[in-house]
Amino acid sequence: MQIDFVSGDLEASLGADAVLAVLAFEEKVLSPAAQAADAASGGAIQRALSAGRFKGSKSQTLDILAPGGLKAARLLVVGAGKQAEFDLLAIEQAAAAAFQVVKASGLATLVLDFSGLSPEQAARAGFAVRLAAYRFDRYRTKEKPEAKPSIGRVLIAVSDVAAAMTAYATEAAVADGVIFTRDLVSEPANILYPAEFAKRVKALETLGLEVEILGEAEMEKLGMGSLLGVGQGSRRESQLAVIQWKGAADKDAQPVAFVGKGVCFDTGGISIKPADGMEDMKFDMGGAGAVSGLMCALASRKAKVNAIGILGLVENMPDGNAQRPGDIVTSMSGQTIEVINTDAEGRLVLADAIWYCQDRFKPKFIVDLATLTGAIIIALGNDYAGLFSNDDTLSDNLLAASKAENEPLWRMPLPPQYDKLIDSPAADMKNIGGRAGGSITAALFIKRFIKDGLPWAHLDIASTAWKKSASDPTIPEGATGYGVRLLNRMVADKYEG
Ligand code: BES
Ligand code: MN
Ligand code: ZN
Repeated sequence: MQIDFVSGDLEASLGADAVLAVLAFEEKVLSPAAQAADAASGGAIQRALSAGRFKGSKSQTLDILAPGGLKAARLLVVGAGKQAEFDLLAIEQAAAAAFQVVKASGLATLVLDFSGLSPEQAARAGFAVRLAAYRFDRYRTKEKPEAKPSIGRVLIAVSDVAAAMTAYATEAAVADGVIFTRDLVSEPANILYPAEFAKRVKALETLGLEVEILGEAEMEKLGMGSLLGVGQGSRRESQLAVIQWKGAADKDAQPVAFVGKGVCFDTGGISIKPADGMEDMKFDMGGAGAVSGLMCALASRKAKVNAIGILGLVENMPDGNAQRPGDIVTSMSGQTIEVINTDAEGRLVLADAIWYCQDRFKPKFIVDLATLTGAIIIALGNDYAGLFSNDDTLSDNLLAASKAENEPLWRMPLPPQYDKLIDSPAADMKNIGGRAGGSITAALFIKRFIKDGLPWAHLDIASTAWKKSASDPTIPEGATGYGVRLLNRMVADKYEG
């Protein structure tokens, strides 16, 4: 998708292959550009308004084909909601909604004339279009041309083109990160197994990241029996990816750290999952995917921060060599774990990845991301991820970023009295705590691997990493890239400079 900014007279940009999109606010208040288009077309918008139920509410659109008096082939009036509430998120929604309506119209160019956008606002419109235009079509060889998107270029009207382009460079870096995540999460597990995942992350070194890949032999030396136990039934070698971004003025300044669950496929192992819906478990690396996309975004926009990304990459398979229920493994922390259910594998992977992260990097804080429990979907539904944390400041920073970027997050409790639910008579702990509060006992399990005093947050993104159908114009169905925007925002607002 090509995004360009234009100023002044749009006439030259409009042609028989173009859609002109303008805004209307609630109660049919036309923006200046909409008024101009209405005048030029001899009142086409006003006539269309009286012929339908368009009110200018958010994401409502009014599509006028072949308007007389205008050069554009199509005129799209986009509802923007209340004028007083027209913030950056509303601009995103309007730009993405416009794109969704006309993407397969057969026309090649979309011109967004949102009257009087600041450079920052125009950049955000471009960002939203990038996200809206995402599609994973790598394996579709027989799609008919008329079913494919036709819009290949989006022009955004802004008075200061140079300033808009500067602002867009930052936005585009974040979009690149989200898209990197979506691509990883969309790939099927026969293509994206731990070593392939690691290879794709290694390729990010061109952005200035440092990436180390540890294999099973190295992890054995480190004593990562918990992570390795999960992968031991797979033909694919488990990997630990260690990504470093040194963007702070002081390269030795204490880093922030992010750890991702990267289960490239989760069959459940010997505690095997039912066949129905098991294909979804290719997205069980969504946490590692988000951490990868975040690191990509931070490096692309040269964030002034030192950041660490750790990915625990495994495949959870049933096999003659697979881990059995009842097995006891020793984690890198020295704590032993009785594996009651081999399907509660994400926490086993995180236990060692998180310990390694603290041990080696002594970070300011750790945020881990994981498609950890089905129970979080039961608790919060499909839009909210669950936040579990031992630190109110870190939590508040995450929640503020979540609001700013429209990636919904809800804080859940970590009641100490539930911790005994994961005690085991045979080992230091067991890996499940029963059905009740399943997401909470999973988080309490991870908490046992956090050293005293370290601010930590766990984001259970099983609910948000994948969308079965599109619910937001910036998030097409499939991989969402959830977490990249949120964490990038938190770093930008609270931990840079
Ligand atoms: N990867 C799953 C959780 C999951 C479920 C992610 C649905 C996305 C959508 C995780 O490894 C798992 O299997 N969790 C079990 C835990 C149980 C065995 C305690 C679950 O949620 O059922
Ligand atoms: Mn599982
Ligand atoms: Zn899993």
